[in-house]
Amino acid sequence: MKTPSIILVIATIVQTLGFAHGSTIELSSTPPEDASDPIPEAFVSYSIEFSSFPDFAGNNSSPNTFSNNLLNNLGNFTGTKPYIRVGGNTQDYALYNASLPFSINSTIIPSRATDYPTIIFIGPSYFESYNTWPDTKFSHGFNLGLGGNNSEGWQTLLDTVPLACKALGGGKLLWWEYGNEPDLFSTSAQGPVRPPGWNESTYVSQWLNGTRAIKQELQKSCPELTSNESYGYLAPSFAGVSNHLKPVTTWQDGLNVDRDIKLISSHNYIGGATQPGVTLQSTLMNHTKTTSSVSAQAALAQNLSSYDIPFILGETNSLYNEGAPGLSNAFGAALWGIDFNLYCASVGIRRVHMHQGTNYRYQFWQPVETNITTKGTKAPYYGHVVVAAMLGGSDTQIVGLDLEDEREAAYAAYVEGVLERVVVVNLREYNYTVNGTSGVVNPEPRGSQNYTFSVPDGYSGSVGVQRLWANGSDAISGISWDGWSYNYELDEGRPVRLGNVTVGEVVDVENGGFTVAVEDSTAVVLNFSEGEG
Ligand SMILES: *[C@@H]1O[C@H](CO)[C@@H](O)[C@H](O)[C@H]1NC(C)=O
Ligand SMILES: *[C@@H]1O[C@H](CO)[C@@H](O)[C@H](O)[C@H]1NC(C)=O
Ligand SMILES: *[C@@H]1O[C@H](CO)[C@@H](O)[C@H](O)[C@H]1NC(C)=O
Ligand SMILES: *[C@@H]1O[C@H](CO)[C@@H](O)[C@H](O)[C@H]1NC(C)=O
Ligand SMILES: *[C@@H]1O[C@H](CO)[C@@H](O)[C@H](O)[C@H]1NC(C)=O
Ligand SMILES: *[C@@H]1O[C@H](CO)[C@@H](O)[C@H](O)[C@H]1NC(C)=O
Ligand SMILES: *[C@@H]1O[C@H](CO)[C@@H](O)[C@H](O)[C@H]1NC(C)=O
Ligand SMILES: *[C@@H]1O[C@H](CO)[C@@H](O)[C@H](O)[C@H]1NC(C)=O
Ligand SMILES: *[C@@H]1O[C@H](CO)[C@@H](O)[C@H](O)[C@H]1NC(C)=O
Ligand SMILES: *[C@@H]1O[C@H](CO)[C@@H](O)[C@H](O)[C@H]1NC(C)=O
Ligand SMILES: *[C@@H]1O[C@H](CO)[C@@H](O)[C@H](O)[C@H]1NC(C)=O
Ligand SMILES: *[C@@H]1O[C@H](CO)[C@@H](O)[C@H](O)[C@H]1NC(C)=O
Repeated sequence: MKTPSIILVIATIVQTLGFAHGSTIELSSTPPEDASDPIPEAFVSYSIEFSSFPDFAGNNSSPNTFSNNLLNNLGNFTGTKPYIRVGGNTQDYALYNASLPFSINSTIIPSRATDYPTIIFIGPSYFESYNTWPDTKFSHGFNLGLGGNNSEGWQTLLDTVPLACKALGGGKLLWWEYGNEPDLFSTSAQGPVRPPGWNESTYVSQWLNGTRAIKQELQKSCPELTSNESYGYLAPSFAGVSNHLKPVTTWQDGLNVDRDIKLISSHNYIGGATQPGVTLQSTLMNHTKTTSSVSAQAALAQNLSSYDIPFILGETNSLYNEGAPGLSNAFGAALWGIDFNLYCASVGIRRVHMHQGTNYRYQFWQPVETNITTKGTKAPYYGHVVVAAMLGGSDTQIVGLDLEDEREAAYAAYVEGVLERVVVVNLREYNYTVNGTSGVVNPEPRGSQNYTFSVPDGYSGSVGVQRLWANGSDAISGISWDGWSYNYELDEGRPVRLGNVTVGEVVDVENGGFTVAVEDSTAVVLNFSEGEG
């Protein structure tokens, strides 16, 4: 190392002051004590609305290759394609009709729900949708809502176990699920399917009754799926940590007496689509809000930790009721998705299944053309690309880095115990247009923040910089990640290098540190591997 001259020292001090965004962010070369355990495979996963699954996956004669391309993109970063939970509200409405000549007969009853059907019949070909995506694992959601309510519902359970288990043989089965959000069964806004006296112990006895029936049917149709290693559930899939039914009580009431629960699954939304006061800046682009929402789940995971079963979010997204236009479908929601997923990773949640359905405002892609929504890759998908790029292949630990403002977040990734990557998400809202959809371009210049890092001894040379970019937090198109687009209209969701985005940016490490500018409403990933000295 050369001896710095006095002038250099002064220049460095002046520079540091000039750069002062706040304090320097110190990076350690090895994982700090609060780093997560290594993140399991398929951390970034999806939950697909039961009634929308044929749209997303297609069938034997018409597989949805666009969806498969988007799943491959994430798999190419992490080595494992996302796992797919097939379920949601509509799993508890689905009845089986053996003579239906197509996959699903859906009827929307607007007084119950406008976004999804609440009268549903599935035919045998529904299960073809499990054949279309290679190297993908699924959980299938059986109907407890009607299964525990009437004889058609119960018959559906018995009839569909053989179809589901045959479709999910050969390594495609993740686990089963019996019932979606049963904590809301007696209070559901779409119409209760249980009387007011519905409680944890009734739920547990019905869950045990149904899952034992599933096992009996498996023994007849798919005995290879009844071993300890191959048979199990994600449960209880409650909507919240403290609704009418409490998750901890179900465990105390013996939910796992058969020792067949393989993943504790809980659902989480940051807020509601039509809740007063919900905005991009205060609700989604707000690290405080994200951490307080996830912390309630982390506390539940802690309360259940003595069962020693991994805790996941089996269904989650930004704003419940399928998202809000202008919020859940905007680039700001992609930035939220980075903060949300990596915060979950950093506090020990073992997988995140991001929920979507056809035409939903918070979807990551629209799998088919409809008269409501154009087929295509939606802005929030790009957040998952960044999370997958941060996590990489295997043995990655994530740690949150403290920043000063709640409109920013940063995480470091340690791979095999070595600092490899840092992401900075600048959550300050910048509108590209004024007044929402007025189309008038914002005359205000876009702000930017300088982030100064100190690097451990031995790190020198240069740091690679990759940017997630769009015109503003309100943009719903024109998103790029490190110069790549995954848009449908370019190459059906396969990565396409854009000619109009600068890539290959580096910053130099000088005097044990460096500064990187991050525009408002963008994210950067810093790669240390190439600069490691
Ligand atoms: C990566 O992408 C290719 C297509 O380019 C695909 O064939 C392959 O299976 C993907 N890898 C993973 C792990 O998903
Ligand atoms: C089952 O499907 C057949 C064939 O489409 C149809 O005629 C029948 O009405 C359906 N049953 C119900 C209960 O929807
Ligand atoms: C398969 O999907 C295509 C395209 O959506 C559809 O026309 C066809 O009826 C489906 N086949 C079955 C058996 O459902
Ligand atoms: C589809 O479901 C609706 C509502 O239950 C029913 O009226 C109709 O007959 C069903 N169609 C078929 C082909 O099963
Ligand atoms: C079945 O659902 C209806 C509402 O559709 C509800 O009134 C009734 O209490 C439920 N029955 C049982 C046995 O849960
Ligand atoms: C399980 O539920 C079914 C359908 O409600 C019922 O017929 C059966 O008696 C139940 N079995 C037990 C052991 O409760
Ligand atoms: C972020 O959320 C917290 C908690 O809800 C709230 O107190 C704070 O005002 C929000 N910040 C912004 C910038 O809206
Ligand atoms: C949109 O499509 C749905 C189902 O495909 C149909 O029932 C509805 O009438 C269509 N709406 C309009 C406005 O065309
Ligand atoms: C961005 O636009 C939205 C909707 O018009 C508005 O509520 C919000 O205050 C704007 N944010 C900024 C930073 O101008
Ligand atoms: C934006 O909305 C405000 C308040 O409604 C209005 O005063 C202003 O003229 C609008 N600006 C443009 C460019 O539409
Ligand atoms: C960031 O650093 C650059 C280069 O020194 C400087 O021009 C710019 O004013 C700084 N921005 C802020 C917001 O401090
Ligand atoms: C860059 O190119 C893409 C694809 O041609 C286009 O959609 C996008 O608008 C362009 N971006 C800019 C900032 O010109």
